[in-house]
This record gives sequence, structure tokens and C-alpha cells, in this order.
Amino acid sequence: MKVSIIGGGGLVGSCAGFALQAGGIVRDIALVDINQDLVEGQALDLLHGSSLLHDQNIYAGGTEQVTDSDVVVITAGLRRKPDESRLDLINRNVALFKNILADVKSHGLKSDAIVFVVSNPVDVLTYLAIQELGLPASQVIGLGTVLDTTRLRSMLAARLQVQPTQVEVTIYGEHGDSMVPIWSAAQIAGIPLDKFPGVTQNLIAEIEKKTRGSGAEVIKKKGGAGFAVGVSIADVVHSIALDSNRIMPVSSLQNGLYGLRDVSISVPTVVGRTGVLGCVEVDLWPKEKMALQRSGSVLRETIDKVLKG
Ligand code: 2OP
Repeated sequence: MKVSIIGGGGLVGSCAGFALQAGGIVRDIALVDINQDLVEGQALDLLHGSSLLHDQNIYAGGTEQVTDSDVVVITAGLRRKPDESRLDLINRNVALFKNILADVKSHGLKSDAIVFVVSNPVDVLTYLAIQELGLPASQVIGLGTVLDTTRLRSMLAARLQVQPTQVEVTIYGEHGDSMVPIWSAAQIAGIPLDKFPGVTQNLIAEIEKKTRGSGAEVIKKKGGAGFAVGVSIADVVHSIALDSNRIMPVSSLQNGLYGLRDVSISVPTVVGRTGVLGCVEVDLWPKEKMALQRSGSVLRETIDKVLKG
């Protein structure tokens, strides 16, 4: 499988490239970026380690790399300022993102290509990509709340001193301020969270608040996320590459699930080689369902304001 990463010279794109290299599942990793020297440097740096990892082809190139790519990851775009919400970023990123989409479309894509949007605000830009690219909506997905979910699981594990791979709690909704942690289904090692030793409502509130602020915190401390968003991207790409059909909180176009319509947002989504195979309407607490619907309304309002003029 070939994966192109547009924005592969930047922090997010190069970390995604490294995560895909370490995973060893995809065969070709093509890094694409407007900054030619930087992207060639990233590709060279990755290549230098390949003899200790896997037999893959890793290189830099131009947008022509998308024409034979199975997955096109788009991480390019301006980054938030520490005090800027992802939705505030939209006005600065829409014009840039439209140019990227036009460039991709002009080069042509395989009929079964998957376009995987990471650039922020990811839900709105995923919706835009669906409108602009002319691919079936099921073949255009966004990273959504995959990163928020791993942040929550990892920080909850650290706080409770349990293994992060045994923490099961997922965030749905907007990758942004209105994200919705689904505490009703939370478990640790198969044990309902509210029955696990040391778990209190205060602890849950503390970790939820820290998760919501994680993006801004990482931007403030180091300029922006890299490692965690890189492995989050690779996790989704691997589900596509292996046709895993795993249920993941990626962002995709909704047509009625939980009353969500004509908006790209994260819900339980089955991800395989053909992209979105379907979404699962799991039972939620009433307050969770309401929060999810409010998240959809927030995104809908932004789409109406920004994308429909
Ligand atoms: C974050 O939350 C990059 O939006 C991403 O850090």
C-alpha cells in the first residue's frame, strides 16, 4: 500500500511518516510539502533508519505522488496559536485547504483512494474535502477525536497507575471544545470505570478537563502535537491498509445517526480498506446524546458560516 502525506515536511506529517515507518505495514511512504528542502530532509532522515526497521520505500515528492496513492493524508495547514480555538483557525485555513484540494484533484486520484484529513479544524475541513474532491463520502475521513481518545486513555491510565492499553473510554463529537467523552461505556481491564478502585467523579472531571486542554497545552509547551497525533494517524491508516473493519472515532459525513445530518463528526465508525463501512449507533446516556447533538450543531453552524458563504 502507498501512503502520501501532504504536509510531510511539518511536525505532524513527519511524525505520521515515522509512525508508519515504525509500524512497517505500508510499503510506500511519500512525503509531500511546499517546503522542498524540509520535506527532502525529513524523508532522508527517515530513510537513514530504515535498515533497522522495515523494507519500505520512503521518499519526498510533489503532489503527483497522490495519483497512485491508496491513502492521501492531508496534514498541511496553519497551526493554532495557544489561545486560539480550532474553529477560530478556520478562517485562516479554508483558503489554504481549498488550494490543496484543488491541487490534489488536478493530479487525479485512484478511484478507490482514501483521503484522510488531519488539518484543523478537522471536522469542517473533512466536510469541505467531501464537497470538493468528488470522491464518495465514504472514502473521505478525518482524524476526528482519535487523538483526543488516546490522550484521555493515556492520561487516565497514568493517573490511576494502570496500563494505558487496558483503558477503554472513547471520545466522540467535534475534535474541539464540544468533544464528548463517553463515560457511560468506560472500562478498565473489562471492569466498569465507576467500580474501579480510586475512581471518583472529581478524578474523572480532572482528567476530562486536562484532555480538553491538551491540544493547547502541547502547543504552548512545544509548539504543537507530533508524536501522539502521528501514532493516531498511523492507527487509522493501518486499519485501512489491513482492512481491519475496526470501530474508530474518525470523522465522517453523517446522514441521521443520533440525529446528526450533513456534518462530518466523530461517531463509532467501522474503518476498512474502502474507508467508512458504516457507523454504529450505540446506546448513550441522554446527556451524552444531547452533547453529541450540540457538537453537531456547533459544526453545522460553522459550516454554514464559513463554507456556504
Ligand atoms: C491537537 O489537538 C493537532 O488538533 C491537534 O493537538
